[in-house]
Amino acid sequence: MIRAYHVTKRYGDVHALRDVTVKLGKGEFCYVTGPSGAGKTTMLKMLYGAVQPTEGKLLVGGVDVSRLSKRRLPYLRRNIGIVFQDFKLIPTRTLAENVGLALEVLGTSRDVIDRRVNAVLGIVGLRGRGHEYPPTLSGGEQQRVAVARAIVNDPSILLADEPTGNLDGAMAIEVMEILQAINLRGTTVMVATHDTGLMNRFPFRKLRFEAGRLVES
Ligand SMILES: Nc1ncnc2c1ncn2[C@@H]1O[C@H](COP(=O)(O)OP(=O)(O)O)[C@@H](O)[C@H]1O
Ligand SMILES: [Mg+2]
Repeated sequence: MIRAYHVTKRYGDVHALRDVTVKLGKGEFCYVTGPSGAGKTTMLKMLYGAVQPTEGKLLVGGVDVSRLSKRRLPYLRRNIGIVFQDFKLIPTRTLAENVGLALEVLGTSRDVIDRRVNAVLGIVGLRGRGHEYPPTLSGGEQQRVAVARAIVNDPSILLADEPTGNLDGAMAIEVMEILQAINLRGTTVMVATHDTGLMNRFPFRKLRFEAGRLVES
């Protein structure tokens, strides 16, 4: 599903990633871990085409993102869901509108949007709450809405960058349980985190980075 060959990313003089070679199979769950500044976010950004490798080759679901044109980026993104630490929900839109937006942009019919939105709100434990607004929800609930938004398209890959970074312990566990459930339905999941407690509780493969180098996989 994901293959990196000798991938390097430099920002000027900063080596964010150095000579990373790794393979991830379809349906795997894995962590991207390591200290702050190790290159975790850069690794995920390359996978969804937000930054390009300086050197090396990177294949995501058969798409060579190391030489992807801007024009073909939406095609890659359709196959990838993304969750961020800070949720990034639109506060003035209902939960259902937030979750369905990606489908509206694609011109999906109202019927199909409603059906998909209800289904994914159910998956994240928020069935029937689509009419509510993000600011009235707890942090954990907001992150679950963000997860629902990320999977509304039924992507084959879900990327999450410190998804539990702003959540307390109980809410973090709820979000991890949902990510695990999504993985069990066949989605490849990558979670960037440095929360060792959470990684021990939910033991999966770890890609550990230190100063841009992959030191454990
Ligand atoms: N846009 C950028 N411009 C310059 N340096 C950057 C940029 N993004 C990240 N970096 C640097 O790349 C390194 C890796 O950053 P990052 O991938 O964000 O690490 P992590 O997510 O593990 O904290 C850090 O040294 C960071 O300062
Ligand atoms: Mg980061």
